[in-house]
Amino acid sequence: MKRESFGSRFGALVAMAGSAVGLGNLWRFPYLVGENGGAAFIIVYILLSFLICLPIFVSEFVIGRRSQKNAYAAFRDLSGGSAWKWIGLVTVIVPLIVLSYYSVIGGWSVEYLLKSITFSFTGTDTLSSMKTMFTDFVSSPWIPLLMHTVFMLVSTLIVMVGIKDGIEKFSKVMMPLLFFMVLAIAIYSLTLPGAGKGVDYLFNPDFSKIDGKACAAALGQAFFSLSLGFGTILTYASYVDKKENIMFQSTATAVSDLMFALIAGVAIMPAVFAFGLNPQSGPGLVFETLPYVFSQMPAGGIVAIVFFVALLVAALTSSISMLEVAVAYLVEEKKFSRTGACAVLFAVCWVVGALCSLSFGPLADFKIAGRSIFDFFDNLSSNVLMTLGSLMTVLFVGWRLKKTDIYDEFTNGGTLSANAKIFGVLWFLIRYVCPLAIIAIFVSGLI
Ligand code: ALA
Repeated sequence: MKRESFGSRFGALVAMAGSAVGLGNLWRFPYLVGENGGAAFIIVYILLSFLICLPIFVSEFVIGRRSQKNAYAAFRDLSGGSAWKWIGLVTVIVPLIVLSYYSVIGGWSVEYLLKSITFSFTGTDTLSSMKTMFTDFVSSPWIPLLMHTVFMLVSTLIVMVGIKDGIEKFSKVMMPLLFFMVLAIAIYSLTLPGAGKGVDYLFNPDFSKIDGKACAAALGQAFFSLSLGFGTILTYASYVDKKENIMFQSTATAVSDLMFALIAGVAIMPAVFAFGLNPQSGPGLVFETLPYVFSQMPAGGIVAIVFFVALLVAALTSSISMLEVAVAYLVEEKKFSRTGACAVLFAVCWVVGALCSLSFGPLADFKIAGRSIFDFFDNLSSNVLMTLGSLMTVLFVGWRLKKTDIYDEFTNGGTLSANAKIFGVLWFLIRYVCPLAIIAIFVSGLI
């Protein structure tokens, strides 16, 4: 049977951008920026994104498109059947772990979208009642489980339909919509009285906050945000036409991801500061502070709906990319039907996600290595496995594959002269700079 592929350049691009743009951009980035030195952190983030992460992105792209296979088979076949295939297998498993807990937060977005549609925030006049609303919700067993099920089900159904008619079509419609929604909130947010303080918080550079930990945070965020080191870009790249320009597609994705992150920051922080609130990290910012802000601002009911639709869409376009990695593996290596693979993976992610979900309530006291189940999986995948996956990817491309093959893939057989010109620099970055920088930054984040 002929392998599916993306139907158009735009389709491939929005699918990749969709994989990249997600919860990472909408809640993690704005907070990290503020906490780690504002514009100084953004400068470090941009440098790391383009000097380290873009070459890793290109490496994943090259492996995927060269092999036209799932992540496991790509490593196996390109290395002539060597032990590298086990790295391939790890990159099939990691996105399933990420997807499991990602789906829990996706479920929260569904619940908060429903709450905003029913105007549940209006009339909640203190931040502490918003906190209570969130704590009561996440610690209750059933509703978060139900919402996790809904989110996982929608992701699975999109992937089940296929690459062109499912993933590509969904991304083509949703990504432009997402962009306009986030942009509209950013513009509105800037018009609020007192918004300037939020802009200062984001863009005032404080270089004294840039240390090893800030660099590690920037790199970790860039990996997470660009979906690097866990097979998604590799798998999507395997569906990209051989005529497409790898450098163009990779750069366009990295730039879109960065733009989304910056616009999200401008959408969120000025509004938070306009109401004299302190930004907090992760769930607290999105599910407590923001709903409170929405309850206070003019037309906040509408802004809340737009925001939670955007959050949900961003989460879905990322979750489908994670699911596709293992679907491709089961279909191509284990001869599952697409529907069968989706059903099995739905069950796996549902169970792991359910444990993560319950770790906010009934399983709160159950700890793995001192962390709740949710935190354990989040920490393991974002801080360790993605870094390891990215390191292995550049080592594979830089030291295991033939330079002539990489050149051939990157320049479309020597026909893309601009790519040919920059190949030397890219090769140097992939072979030497990226592995050393990943190790150095990872270690400096530990001490
Ligand atoms: N890249 C995805 C995100 O940013 C995982 O949420």
